[in-house]
Amino acid sequence: MNSSLEIQIIKSKKSDFFELISYEKFRDTKDVRFFDISINKSNYRDLVIHNGPAISPPNDEALGSWQFYIHDKQEDNLLAISGGRTFFLVNFGWKYPFYKIRLEACGYILRIPRGTFHRSVSDKKGSIVLNQAIRDKGGTVESEFKVINSKDNKRLLDCINNLKPKFKIYSVK
Ligand SMILES: [Fe+2]
Repeated sequence: MNSSLEIQIIKSKKSDFFELISYEKFRDTKDVRFFDISINKSNYRDLVIHNGPAISPPNDEALGSWQFYIHDKQEDNLLAISGGRTFFLVNFGWKYPFYKIRLEACGYILRIPRGTFHRSVSDKKGSIVLNQAIRDKGGTVESEFKVINSKDNKRLLDCINNLKPKFKIYSVK
């Protein structure tokens, strides 16, 4: 972990836009810092380990087209524990639909709202990301981890082919 956590606080907004959530340091001992990374209401956690420059979900094997996850009944809250990972988000409900967001270890927690197409690419050395998700009643692994191939969704394909993602980097100074 970095020796200092100096991250700007972005206030949570009641919108379905993605958010970057900061968290609190609650204790220091010699060479050790403790952080409360709790996401209230999180009722489901997954840990995603990328060994090397993995892509999640992987690109289409035959054509190389990008694939995405989208959750109807789950909000993701993603924290890089080690390494760096870049997320691509598409949501047609946003004013600008296409974002590229880089998370670095122990920086912000990225909240991805329901209904957002998302995929991620790790740095060369890989990354470990903890997801403190909020899953709605009726959501299951099967329902929430469907893979959407962009070649099968014209609007999505047009978006990633024709728009340049707005790029934001969130890391610890
Ligand atoms: Fe997800």
